[in-house]
Amino acid sequence: MEGMLDELLHGEESQRAPLLDEVADALAAHVALEEEHFYPAVRARRTEDILLESLEEHLSLKRVMSDLLAMETSDERWEAKMHVLKEQAEHHHEEEEEHLFPKVEKLFDASQLEELGATMTAALAKLHAEHPRDRVFRGTREAATLSMPDVEPLSARA
Ligand SMILES: [Fe+2]
Ligand SMILES: [Fe+2]
Repeated sequence: MEGMLDELLHGEESQRAPLLDEVADALAAHVALEEEHFYPAVRARRTEDILLESLEEHLSLKRVMSDLLAMETSDERWEAKMHVLKEQAEHHHEEEEEHLFPKVEKLFDASQLEELGATMTAALAKLHAEHPRDRVFRGTREAATLSMPDVEPLSARA
């Protein structure tokens, strides 16, 4: 993902549109997978704050990405906006890696997480078959919530 963002910023203008579609699909798949499977499943008293912040960061990423998808690649604001997307994506991924994932590993059993991982792998394959970037356009009004109707939260260790 970060490699593709670099390529977008430093590559040829003619390559921007096809590469952006690829990045948008990857970003949209990440967001959808976490919002629909991961965050609701690992919701617990000790993860709630960071999950809510993550959802707001997803919202911001979706908004910037949908601006980019609607903008001419020759627009003088294109590169500035792409920089903002890259900065926000990096901040978000760092925060997940440093604060969310370690907490999740402590709070939930390895077997529970393995099962969740398998569900997410299957969901990712399905998402990629259906242009996940189309979702980016839909989810820009407000942040997703932590309570998905079909997802039972994993039970946290005491
Ligand atoms: Fe995320
Ligand atoms: Fe943050």
